[in-house]
Amino acid sequence: MATTSIFYGSVYGAAERLAEAVCDKMNDLGHDAKLIDNPQVEDVARAEQVLVITSTTGQGDLPDNILPLYLGLQSQFPLLGGKACAVIAMGDSSYGDTFCGGGKQFEQLLEELQGKIVLPRLDIDAMVDFDPEPVALPWIEKLVTQF
Ligand SMILES: Cc1cc2nc3c(=O)[nH]c(=O)nc-3n(C[C@H](O)[C@H](O)[C@H](O)COP(=O)(O)O)c2cc1C
Repeated sequence: MATTSIFYGSVYGAAERLAEAVCDKMNDLGHDAKLIDNPQVEDVARAEQVLVITSTTGQGDLPDNILPLYLGLQSQFPLLGGKACAVIAMGDSSYGDTFCGGGKQFEQLLEELQGKIVLPRLDIDAMVDFDPEPVALPWIEKLVTQF
């Protein structure tokens, strides 16, 4: 069975906690998943399936803990050859045009690298859903049928 590598970007911990819960949920569903701490470009290049879970900071920016990975992918540009990818973007719609900008940027880069987005991106709005898990876990149930 293929393993899903989960990459997370988080400033205050919400996206990191969600990534942990998602990893547990996938494993409970009988799907191999692992969290990648301190991610490197090779971790994405070698992953069998890629799931990115990231919040947004600044004005539509990626958190500092995932930004080096994004920039490394952009500069080294490892083609992903149709590798299955998916993105959960966390944000707050009160930020207007930059809502979920971090996740949107990452998804766009994965597509430029020829990753295949197997399920439309899930955007979680902290203004609406204080607890992201009830929104994300049903989406994960769908995702494992696509991975
Ligand atoms: C300083 C700051 C800037 C933010 N900027 C944005 C933004 O531009 N767009 C957006 O959708 N959300 C923005 N957010 C909201 C966060 O992305 C959201 O609260 C998220 O759930 C935080 O997750 P984290 O705890 O993993 O960092 C911002 C939050 C803070 C505190």
